[in-house]
Amino acid sequence: MRTPKNFFSPLALGAPEPLKEIPFRASRMIHFFDPSNEKMRAKVAGIAPTVDVLLGNLEDAVAVDNKEAARAGLVEVGRNWTSGETQLWTRVNSLDSPWFLDDLMTLVSQIGDKLDVVMVPKVEGPEDIHFVDQLLAQLEARARLERPILVHAILETAQGVANVEQICGASPRMQGLSLGPADLAADRRMKTTRVGGGHPGYLVRQDPEEGRDDSDRAFYQQDLWHYTLARMVDACGTYGILPYYGPFGDIADTVACEDQFRNAYLLGCVGAWSLHPVQIDIAKKVFSPEPSEVEWAMRVIEEMGDGTGAVMIDGKMQDDATVKQCEVVVNLARELATKDPDLASSYGF
Ligand code: GLV
Ligand code: MG
Repeated sequence: MRTPKNFFSPLALGAPEPLKEIPFRASRMIHFFDPSNEKMRAKVAGIAPTVDVLLGNLEDAVAVDNKEAARAGLVEVGRNWTSGETQLWTRVNSLDSPWFLDDLMTLVSQIGDKLDVVMVPKVEGPEDIHFVDQLLAQLEARARLERPILVHAILETAQGVANVEQICGASPRMQGLSLGPADLAADRRMKTTRVGGGHPGYLVRQDPEEGRDDSDRAFYQQDLWHYTLARMVDACGTYGILPYYGPFGDIADTVACEDQFRNAYLLGCVGAWSLHPVQIDIAKKVFSPEPSEVEWAMRVIEEMGDGTGAVMIDGKMQDDATVKQCEVVVNLARELATKDPDLASSYGF
């Protein structure tokens, strides 16, 4: 591990200075597209202004025969990229694949000045991040980039979850983490074949009662992902980086998608992946605070004056801690409003 004194030193001569803090930029949805698909590339100019992050996917869901076309397609998209406020990310192939090295070398040298974040799949521990960190520094120096490309890791192996804190703290490039429920389920031998979301068999049931039929016992479905998501949120909070829910694969089930996204939002996540245009609006709605919540939070902050002591508002106790809770909501609303004029007017800003 690098010592605290040299943690923020560039890892290659001529590489840009690492950031001391990860900037918060709107990233309610990371919208995935397959850059090998010409039709999808043609839609980029229309979709980019409607999303916070557009991600050119090179990994899973891109067929082996299309890997090189996807890389080349993303270079084309990057060269034509003019969507100022929207971030351009990529998901590269995993470190043990035959494509990773060329993915990184090509993208950094050809469109490194346009790429904000590289998402690295199947990260197992800090050693994976150290490798990517060093290589990126070499490539940035060679391409004479002026700002560092950040790294986002997908948490999708049991070992990655076990090492989550060390992954978050492995480099100043670490921007955030996403949950990868499909790979993680397989790696852990979970028995769900769904991509994210709940499972009707994962439940708790009301106790039996004399004279009551078993079929009358109430049951409640539980969230399979709660433990991992909560660990991820704490690890990200500890290291000052951003947690995201990952993919929700049942595109037709917009209701359950919204529920899963909202659980993640309430727990501390800043966004989720969108795999289909219908999920863009779901993420936009869920990861932007409700206007009524913002109004309430502003009222609490206002009535709490210098933010200390305690007051009752509508029968609810407020104190120094609740002011901080309310500031989380109002600060998020203000940050999102700078990008989204409709949202700004719904908040009355
Ligand atoms: C995403 O990559 C997943 O495996 O869920
Ligand atoms: Mg995966």
